[in-house]
Amino acid sequence: MIPRIYIPGDSGALALGAEKVAKAVRAELAERGIEAKIVRNGSRGAYFLEPMVEVATATGRVAYGPVKPSDVKSLFDCGFLTGGHHKRWLGAPDKIPFLARQTRLTFARCGVTDPLSLDHYKAHGGLKGLQNAVAITPADIVKQVTESGLRGRGGAGFPTGIKWKTVLDTSADRKYIVCNADEGDSGTFADRMIMEGDPFVLIEGMAIAGIATGATKGFIYIRSEYPHAVAVMQKAVEIARKVGVLGVNVLGSPNSFDMEVRVGAGAYVCGEETALLDSLEGKRGQVRAKPPLPAHKGLFGKPTVINNVISLASVPVIMDKGAAFYKDFGTGRSRGTIPIQIAGNVKYPGLYEAAFGMTLGEIVDDIGGGTATGRPVKAVQVGGPLGAYFPRALFDTPFDYEAFAAKDGLIGHAGIVVFDDSADMLKQARFAMEFCAIESCGKCTPCRIGSTRGVEVLDRLAQNVEPEKQIALVTDLCNTMKFGSLCALGGFTPYPVMSALNHFPDDFRPTPVAEAAE
Ligand SMILES: Cc1cc2nc3c(=O)[nH]c(=O)nc-3n(C[C@H](O)[C@H](O)[C@H](O)COP(=O)(O)O)c2cc1C
Ligand code: SF4
Repeated sequence: MIPRIYIPGDSGALALGAEKVAKAVRAELAERGIEAKIVRNGSRGAYFLEPMVEVATATGRVAYGPVKPSDVKSLFDCGFLTGGHHKRWLGAPDKIPFLARQTRLTFARCGVTDPLSLDHYKAHGGLKGLQNAVAITPADIVKQVTESGLRGRGGAGFPTGIKWKTVLDTSADRKYIVCNADEGDSGTFADRMIMEGDPFVLIEGMAIAGIATGATKGFIYIRSEYPHAVAVMQKAVEIARKVGVLGVNVLGSPNSFDMEVRVGAGAYVCGEETALLDSLEGKRGQVRAKPPLPAHKGLFGKPTVINNVISLASVPVIMDKGAAFYKDFGTGRSRGTIPIQIAGNVKYPGLYEAAFGMTLGEIVDDIGGGTATGRPVKAVQVGGPLGAYFPRALFDTPFDYEAFAAKDGLIGHAGIVVFDDSADMLKQARFAMEFCAIESCGKCTPCRIGSTRGVEVLDRLAQNVEPEKQIALVTDLCNTMKFGSLCALGGFTPYPVMSALNHFPDDFRPTPVAEAAE
């Protein structure tokens, strides 16, 4: 049997030099006259070990990482094709502590299989959920998804089954499934990773959503900054169509479902579901007032399910193993698993899928290993640019929608960005206001005007101009934005601002210039 070498081809690994490593491996194989198959798999998500090269040996896969092109010659010398020892040797990938401790339901195949091999997908449990779905009624599919407790992973945490039921119960000549792959939150990459590493799971989830609700057409709206994900998804859709996973008779059933990939417009607000629909319709991406809900009048005025990539990609395992299996993981009303993305100033960055309920401290200190700089952790922003900053004092908060809301925070898309003690939280608060000012769609006044005024107030505070007055003003402004904005961009910008102010008040009392000089 010819040796099989796995070299990740996803954007994360490519950014860390995987292409150069692949080139070096190819050159070395040619020079030594060795025939081998190179598989460009997705990443397993341990980015501190990427590029992580794996070889299939008689006793299972053996990993090496992080591999540099200059390591390749010595890897061959050490017999890495049969798992030989080398300074980059990591052993069996599923025994690497960062990976071994995870509960991989949604990301089970990511980094393991060849992303564009449907045979590989099926050999690793793929399409079982869809097979089960075509054998039961739409109402029973919706019931399973509802009972699983799955909530939207895009940010709002809305129960997926209830959304699907609304679309199922709304009659129309045409309905749509829209996958939100705009992934604009800072420190998040789960959507990209799964689209590049296991695209068929998203296609399967969307097909199940279509059959469950009576929608026959789907769109995946991928942000323009993700060219690799766009290319992989396009190829995967073509493959799925060719073999009848998509088309007029999904898996030979009477159900029809097909989909297209669309590229986003490069604005954060186009991730907001109604702005996304406008953008998909070819208009400027601007938030629509609700009602009507997209489930009643969505894309082109038709009932539309709009779900995040991870919400949809979590459905196949639910339909395969059952609602009870999925629901068994998690805590409180946060059921199942969540792919936590650990980023920023952290020693072990990566994607960590686990059941809800780990504490923030466990995630940052144990899994993430603290800061990369070795300095104390000062703050962690959870949930993207609209998420609150959590100080160490709140590290006992369990990763759970309600627990975070109770501490004036949000889980969002489960991205966490770590900051060490050199971070200036006044600057971070200003950044939040500035981000909102730049990304505001301009439809409502509290967000459009408020964010610009917010930057000005925080600038005056940084210059120590009447600090108490500025703090009162920014607090009042945040309340206006929170309660008066049409969507969460303006409505949640106060979270990072007020959490920075409340948890790190010293950073908001800059030393007067004269005092500092003394
Ligand atoms: C400003 C803004 C940006 C958003 N960006 C995204 C995004 O990039 N991806 C996403 O899935 N949801 C995003 N959302 C949430 C969506 O509006 C919506 O809740 C989500 O697509 C619903 O899918 P889910 O129920 O599966 O989470 C954003 C919301 C707002 C207000
Ligand atoms: S809050 Fe901001 S982004 Fe949202 S609708 Fe209003 S102006 Fe647009």
